[in-house]
Amino acid sequence: MNSLKALILAGGFATRLRPLSCTRPKMLFPVANKPLIDWTLESLSRCGVETVVMAVNYMAEAIARYLGPTKYNLGIIYSREERPLDTAGPIKRAEEHLRDGPFLVLNGDVISDVDYRELLNYHRRKGGLATITLIEVPDPSRYGAVELDGEGRILRFVEKPEPGRAPSNYINAGIYIFEPDVLDYIPAGRPVSTEREIFPKLAEEGLLYGYRASALWVDIGVPEDYLRANSLLLERIGGVQMGEDVEVDETAKLLPPTSIGKRVRIGGDSVIGPNTSIAEDVIIGRGCRIENSIIFPGAIIGDHSSIKNAIIGENATLERWVKVETGSLIGDYVTLCDGVTITGGVTICPSKRVEESILEPRRVM
Ligand code: GDD
Ligand code: MG
Repeated sequence: MNSLKALILAGGFATRLRPLSCTRPKMLFPVANKPLIDWTLESLSRCGVETVVMAVNYMAEAIARYLGPTKYNLGIIYSREERPLDTAGPIKRAEEHLRDGPFLVLNGDVISDVDYRELLNYHRRKGGLATITLIEVPDPSRYGAVELDGEGRILRFVEKPEPGRAPSNYINAGIYIFEPDVLDYIPAGRPVSTEREIFPKLAEEGLLYGYRASALWVDIGVPEDYLRANSLLLERIGGVQMGEDVEVDETAKLLPPTSIGKRVRIGGDSVIGPNTSIAEDVIIGRGCRIENSIIFPGAIIGDHSSIKNAIIGENATLERWVKVETGSLIGDYVTLCDGVTITGGVTICPSKRVEESILEPRRVM
């Protein structure tokens, strides 16, 4: 698989993960305490990819600063957009790097263990212009769904089908092999959607194939899926992962799978896990309960607070007896005062100070 290149679409705005995505690109969100992009680059490197084109736009510099020109033995080229070019425009823009043979295209917000080599082999056997990895899901309406014939050819591609109108439960996993000729289908200089313009056309011409994979797969688009991706990867790693210089009181309990970052401190009688990632420099008081949650770096969790199915932003402070539950998102530098309960998909914007409980879905600006 010499010289196979991969293009990663890494420029989306991640609006459904605001406010956390206001201060960092989704590519840098920690999953099991490692940025999303690192999981992807590692799996590319393992499959023998040598060069990655990062198609960046929103917060491009944060990504470039973090990754630099090379990581995991991969050379990284940055292709920047002046304005968002959607999902096909960025591929066209990076054309000069993609002309020498079939290449991989990845939606950067997907965590998966799809075997790219098998995908490439399948693509070669079928001989189409493009091959899409397919995953079977119960509800295809948030994705692109396909109709397949017996040979694996895609007859129809429907992006975000209305509920009940999807041609099948096989959806586009956001992992493709393209022949360079696909580049000729993409108009230059304007936003173009692969899913709405290119795939329907290729399907119509009988040049699009689907590779059915049964693999770990999550699109980290909404908080619920972000938490699920985190749990799946923690499960895969197993046990309790401990960073350096962690201080855990001997009466605290850590339930696997859980990951504890560097320099975290955990007070007496606290119970952490399962399915929980605590990033570096987090301080957790006494008698706290944290499960199925993600805590970003530097947060302070006061005594007797509990967090369940929630995401707590960087340097947020929960005072004492605070409760955060069910899909709530607490922004960076937020303070939740003593005794506050936040539940039911509440989103709190950065640096807010919250003194009263919020018990219904709401966005606090
Ligand atoms: N560079 C760049 N520029 N990247 C972009 C842009 C852009 O203007 N717009 C979106 N992206 C990136 C996103 O960052 C993401 O990694 C990827 O393109 C897909 O965009 P999403 O906005 O996450 O799309 P989606 O999740 O609703 O749907 C897509 O993914 C599903 C699977 O996860 C589609 O490809 C569906 O067909 C698919 O099923
Ligand atoms: Mg997505």
